[in-house]
Amino acid sequence: MVNSYLDIGVQSRMNRIISPKDNRVVMLAIDHPYFQGPTTGLRNMSVTIKTLLPYCDCLMTTRGAVRANIAPEDVGSKPIMLRVSGGNSVLFEELSDEKLTVTIRDAIRMDAAGVAVSVFIGSANQQQTILNLTDMINSAEEYGIPVLAVTAVGKNMARDLRYLALASRICQDAGARIVKTYYCEEFSKLVDWVAPTAVVVAGGKYSSPPDAMKMAYDSIQAGAAGVDFGRNIFQDKNPVGMIKAIGSIVHGNHTVKEAMDIYNSCLPGATKLD
Ligand code: 5RP
Repeated sequence: MVNSYLDIGVQSRMNRIISPKDNRVVMLAIDHPYFQGPTTGLRNMSVTIKTLLPYCDCLMTTRGAVRANIAPEDVGSKPIMLRVSGGNSVLFEELSDEKLTVTIRDAIRMDAAGVAVSVFIGSANQQQTILNLTDMINSAEEYGIPVLAVTAVGKNMARDLRYLALASRICQDAGARIVKTYYCEEFSKLVDWVAPTAVVVAGGKYSSPPDAMKMAYDSIQAGAAGVDFGRNIFQDKNPVGMIKAIGSIVHGNHTVKEAMDIYNSCLPGATKLD
């Protein structure tokens, strides 16, 4: 919780990202092309954004995607969590070699509500990526812009409580206002250990509607502020049904069964995104 008047800009932007009504957020992650290029569901990104924007609370994406794909009438309708680290591609096995890619000046010019930096703990570039995070926090906080840390752990490290909590806590200590991490067993411990920093959960590879909904449900029950799902929404055959269902879990505390009912009610006429 930010409680100093000196942090009024940060709080204002945090309130745009995470609703103060329930302290929850459905963030839609569509930043994948920054290292994957054309990605299923995001190849025609303007259609994906037009289709899903009404149902998310915040859009996590990149500078180029914002400029090229948000319809003029939709600009400013939802807060943007702007990815500001990158510099690699799927052609290289070691994805951790990232640097900062967007200046704070440009993030402000684009009216970003927050900026996101990836940190790869236990990787060959651990120090470089932690310093990317701290450099961006140093610049962004000066202008009242919250920084979200996207945690990744080294290739040989299990995505379990030990490593995810290690990565999340390092990001909190660096000064991140929001930590994005993966769900794991005993997730409530991770949430407690980084409290009061908000935790949002990444979706990971496309699985299935009930599995993704269960992950969202378990995350919320464990105390997460919300989700930052991508592929499990935009690669589903019923993307609108999926994001509405996830929203009902995050904001309405719906069960997986209740959320599946919403999903199924949107199935007739649903269109897969390219
Ligand atoms: C990768 C990211 C992505 O935005 C995010 O993790 C992908 O979302 P999903 O796994 O749900 O498709 O930050 O570093």
